[in-house]
Amino acid sequence: MEVVIVPDAKAGGELIAGTMAQLLRRRPDALLGVATGSTPLPVYQALADQVRSGAVDTSRARIAQLDEYVGLPVDHPESYRSVVRREVLEPLGIGMDAFLGPDGSAEDVQAACEAYDKALGDAGGIDLQLLGIGTDGHIGFNEPCSSLVSRTRIKTLTEQTRMDNARFFEGDVDQVPHHVITQGIGTILEARHLVLFATGEGKAEAIAATVEGPLAAVCPASALQLHPHATVVVDEAAAGKLKFADYFRYAHVNKPDWQGI
Ligand code: GLP
Repeated sequence: MEVVIVPDAKAGGELIAGTMAQLLRRRPDALLGVATGSTPLPVYQALADQVRSGAVDTSRARIAQLDEYVGLPVDHPESYRSVVRREVLEPLGIGMDAFLGPDGSAEDVQAACEAYDKALGDAGGIDLQLLGIGTDGHIGFNEPCSSLVSRTRIKTLTEQTRMDNARFFEGDVDQVPHHVITQGIGTILEARHLVLFATGEGKAEAIAATVEGPLAAVCPASALQLHPHATVVVDEAAAGKLKFADYFRYAHVNKPDWQGI
């Protein structure tokens, strides 16, 4: 696992957007897996800037969603499909025909989960999956003690995650659904490159457990330790509890440019 410590969220967003742009230049129809939440927004803004300036062409790019609330109508402004449409597809000029996502309003949720895993496989798999992290170490919506080999399935959110996400629902935790569909940890690990982005002191403990803690389902993000190409991009605050921070800085500064992240 590579850990890159950046000065702030903007720098992290530019670094990750630059990596996505390089991928798209190499593979114009790359399938990018995107996450929701506040953290990835600087990535999408930096990538949209590159599209506007003509530095990258997203006309053949494809986008896959990581997770979704169960029971929200697809056109609800806080369904993750709406969020991805608003924050990613529209700014990047990518149409819904190039979008893959689970159907959180399906009557048969289990079938929708299986269909989504199959659709990802049929599409050739995700080239780069961007991840955020919950304060409890969740990735996607894989809460603590999720199976490390899980597939896309329904999960029940912890009260902490519902409270963390209440800010998107007028601060009212009662509006936050209890159930979600999430790519499983096994599904996430199939992406060819995983990039986890975390900013702020509130994520420092989860990041230390992810990077330096034992591989354990109690911290789902620690599953990144199993992936041959996982990059963790953190600002100084989120890196605050890393014992190996100096080594990570040293390794990054001395890395040959051609390697990228
Ligand atoms: C939600 C999403 C995750 C995201 C997490 C953190 O739970 N399902 O994919 O990583 O929120 O969000 P934020 O980046 O806003 O802290």
